Amino acid sequence: MALAEILMLGRMLPLVETSLDKQFTVHRVAAADVAALPADLCARVQAVAGGAHVPVNAALIDRLPALEIVANFGVGYDSVDARHCATKGICVTNTPDVLSEEVADTAMSLLLMAARELPAAERYLRAGQWVAKGPFPLTRATLRGRKLGILGLGRIGKAIATRAEAFGLEIHYHGRSRQPDVAYRYHETLLGMAEACDTLMVVAPGGASTKGIVNAEVLKALGPEGIVVNVGRGTVIDEPALVRALQDGTILSAGLDVFEDEPRVPQALIDMEHVVLLPHVGSASQHTRNAMGQLVVDNLLSWFRNGKPVTPVAETPFVRKV
Ligand code: NAP
Ligand code: 8YV
Repeated sequence: MALAEILMLGRMLPLVETSLDKQFTVHRVAAADVAALPADLCARVQAVAGGAHVPVNAALIDRLPALEIVANFGVGYDSVDARHCATKGICVTNTPDVLSEEVADTAMSLLLMAARELPAAERYLRAGQWVAKGPFPLTRATLRGRKLGILGLGRIGKAIATRAEAFGLEIHYHGRSRQPDVAYRYHETLLGMAEACDTLMVVAPGGASTKGIVNAEVLKALGPEGIVVNVGRGTVIDEPALVRALQDGTILSAGLDVFEDEPRVPQALIDMEHVVLLPHVGSASQHTRNAMGQLVVDNLLSWFRNGKPVTPVAETPFVRKV
């Protein structure tokens, strides 16, 4: 007998779909069809599984009276209204830790690529310009002597800091609170950190509290050698302000894995050859995505078998009522 009825929003990894099919009754629904879910199905759904591409907002949650748990594929859960879930006793889980090293690798790659213009250099070689024109021009930027300000020194931020220290960078950080066990220099304000640094690593979560906090003033404070890397969420940066700062030389460059309106990326960013753009691939190796998928499955199995989630988010530290 099935452990519970699950609503799967969009398609998930084969590992997730196969594992869930063995233990649960799974109802698959495409993003476009969520608004038209039949009432009899809504009444039976006990769990929701999905990723950032289909929001689990208050309107959807309120249509699912038997809902007990939302298992989010991804550590960032800004697409789930976790506070609303909390008020209704619904548990939300995410996929922390298993992706931290992978995302930190991507973040450092973006910083190196942006500073040393490596994607442009590769395009130069492939276009035959090394032969036609000679060596690729020397890059204005280097990692040498850079001061790195990390916005969001959490699990991934710390994995980035470890790498950046090995590269010889001076590390600063900003978050809502100072971390007593951390030796890096803390800044109470993001602006204060930007004034003290020339390189900004954004790895804070999305959501209302971080929306647009990397604004024109913060970008100006980084200065004309400034480089911004974003592996957190696109909404944390005021994207039009970033475009302007890159266009008029307020800062030097950027390396971006996340954007405000994915998968749409402003043409102005695409048009800037020196800016490095990735299609949200921070955690996107088979190894790491499968580990994330396994955690989605483990959370659902643990909830319905043992009454406890494996990795609940801070807003919903719940156990199952029987
Ligand atoms: P985490 O351990 O919870 O760390 C988040 C950090 O952000 C904490 O240090 C927190 O510090 C800080 N923070 C939270 N709200 C803030 C605010 N309003 N202002 C300033 N700092 C704030 O999370 P994580 O596992 O490192 O993941 C971080 C984020 O990375 C995720 O939420 C997700 O958006 C993003 N991510 C992206 C990818 C990708 O593929 N690009 C992959 C995985 C994750 P305080 O509590 O002291 O403020
Ligand atoms: C995933 C992420 O790409 O974990 C996160 O917060 O942004 C990435 O690991 C995403 O969640 C997949 O939908």
